[in-house]
Amino acid sequence: MIVRRHSTGYNFLGDTGTGLTLRWADGVGENPVYAPWPELADISISNHCSKGCDFCYRDSKEDNSFMTIGQYEKVLAGLQHERWGTVFQVALGGGEPLEHPDFKKIIQATCDRGIVANFTTNGERLNEDIVGFLRGKIGALAISAARIDQIDTGILRLLAGNEIRTNLHFILDNRSIAQGIDMLRGKYNDILKHVNSVIFLTYKPKGRAQADKCLELDSNLRMFLNLVNKNKCSCSVGFDACFVPLLMKHTEVNVDCIDSCECGFFSVYIDENMNVKPCSFASDDSYSFNLNDCDFKVIWGKKYDKYRKEVLKNRCNSSDCANKSQCRGKCVYFEDLQFCYVN
Ligand SMILES: C[S@@+](CC[C@H](N)C(=O)[O-])C[C@H]1O[C@@H](n2cnc3c(N)ncnc32)[C@H](O)[C@@H]1O
Repeated sequence: MIVRRHSTGYNFLGDTGTGLTLRWADGVGENPVYAPWPELADISISNHCSKGCDFCYRDSKEDNSFMTIGQYEKVLAGLQHERWGTVFQVALGGGEPLEHPDFKKIIQATCDRGIVANFTTNGERLNEDIVGFLRGKIGALAISAARIDQIDTGILRLLAGNEIRTNLHFILDNRSIAQGIDMLRGKYNDILKHVNSVIFLTYKPKGRAQADKCLELDSNLRMFLNLVNKNKCSCSVGFDACFVPLLMKHTEVNVDCIDSCECGFFSVYIDENMNVKPCSFASDDSYSFNLNDCDFKVIWGKKYDKYRKEVLKNRCNSSDCANKSQCRGKCVYFEDLQFCYVN
């Protein structure tokens, strides 16, 4: 199905079959400032997880903090707009989505509304039953890892056998960057054989993730950046929004192909308590509004105006970046992640 939205200064086209999305402003060479309705909702369906990853920014535990199926239906109903329809896709997270007792119902409810369902998982609960259920129902899933030896190639094979597009979310900190470099050099192509895309995630110092592992612009990160354009990875390579300033300043990647931070402009985050925030990594509640008290239309259309104005001030410190005007600049939440201006 092709989803289309057109208004002044904003055009969107999305193919639910392939996941391809395109957006442009009045002319195809221009970027819209923000969307009249979000294209993507990042929804935490719980904060319950039994794995205990030391990098978990949500500090997820076995605490039974689940969004109920009724609440999830209410969230989806709130994301329905009389003119714009619903969001094109959701990215379900947590907590561990596969430990949610109603995970299958959540996927089904998403499909029933014509929304593309995607989710991230630690991978531990993937088995033949759940993979068989997911076949033909989701856009993609992502398995999180902070080390190569955490990747289960048997599971990747099972997913590929069921035609499920699988990405690897590789968390890049000042230790895992050594394996990130080797990945770009093609050293792990055997392991990545069934992976659609490796997405490098900038390590965020939040929850259980300690600040001493944050990336810095040292020789390793420079080497990594240097390899981006000539990487020998067998699958495609992508980056999270926090990586964008580094890509813009220190690589040859075509800036026309890079989306700056989309949070609160094209995407939105909703947690298991139905709090709506621009970004899942929001480190304070300054732009947090609860769906029980406030209509989503009001949040997106009015309440986020101030946030957008704040971000568009572009607090970037760099005096010599050719792509400064294309970048959303310094993250409003994480000072420590802004180091692209170091020469
Ligand atoms: C908190 S996890 C929850 C979903 C699922 N349990 C998982 O492991 O993917 C959601 C996303 O956050 C990412 N993530 C977790 N901790 C992070 C951190 N400290 N910095 C950056 N990304 C992180 C994960 O890789 C995943 O893509």
